Amino acid sequence: MHKLIIANWKENPVTERRALALFRATAAAARRSRAAAAGISVAVCPPFVFLEQVAGELRRLKPPRPALGAQDVFWEEKGPHTGEVGGKMLRALGAEYVIVGHSERRRWMHETDAAINRKLKRALTDGLRAILCVGEPAAVRRKGIASARHFVEVQLKKDIRGIRGTAAARRVIVAYEPVWAIGTGKRDKPEDAAAMAAFIKRSLRKTAGFAPRVLYGGSVDGKNIRDYISLKEIDGALVGGASLRAGEFADLLDAASAAPRGKNK
Ligand code: PGA
Repeated sequence: MHKLIIANWKENPVTERRALALFRATAAAARRSRAAAAGISVAVCPPFVFLEQVAGELRRLKPPRPALGAQDVFWEEKGPHTGEVGGKMLRALGAEYVIVGHSERRRWMHETDAAINRKLKRALTDGLRAILCVGEPAAVRRKGIASARHFVEVQLKKDIRGIRGTAAARRVIVAYEPVWAIGTGKRDKPEDAAAMAAFIKRSLRKTAGFAPRVLYGGSVDGKNIRDYISLKEIDGALVGGASLRAGEFADLLDAASAAPRGKNK
């Protein structure tokens, strides 16, 4: 089964020089790990300002090479929307993926499910693969797995409204990222993440007519990637902090490429 590992650089690094160095190290690590031969695609999502330079660097590499993604997209194609970037612009730069609805944007930019739904539709209309992020906060998880499932189900329902039956629905990838696990070192138990991934697939098959690929995100690193990627319900990982340290990300790709596959949770 094909797997996907996405590096989400967030607001890092600070300079173009470092961004290019990190990208080169990432691409070299992906090649060394033989990720492609192991059925693993790697994508890198730098900040908007570095997309063009990273895309240029990427074009100079022989395949297999990492794919390019953005961290956000606006819902209008163009117009008077100061500070925003549209999907067609991202496609023109060579981006294939875009992250939509990350919990940090829900929190700091107050993105609502309605706004995320519009962004998702824009991404799909413009031919991007959308990585839709969902996940429950700590207070919800403390009430139990059933509460977390309900929270995620409600998010999904609102975020994917209106895409049922469209051909583009196939380009939706869901990232299950419990908010309390992001950047905290407190990762979800692999078996709980796998059960949630299976639940997300079942729930979307019922409500939206398709079962998406589901990634896990939240404190994934070189030491624990194997626990997730070897489970058949989990189609890959969305990686933040560990994707910023070239050595750590190389270890992560090595471990993922060597991991056994298809274990049930
Ligand atoms: P983390 O972030 O790997 O640093 O926990 C994951 C994410 O926010 O996508």
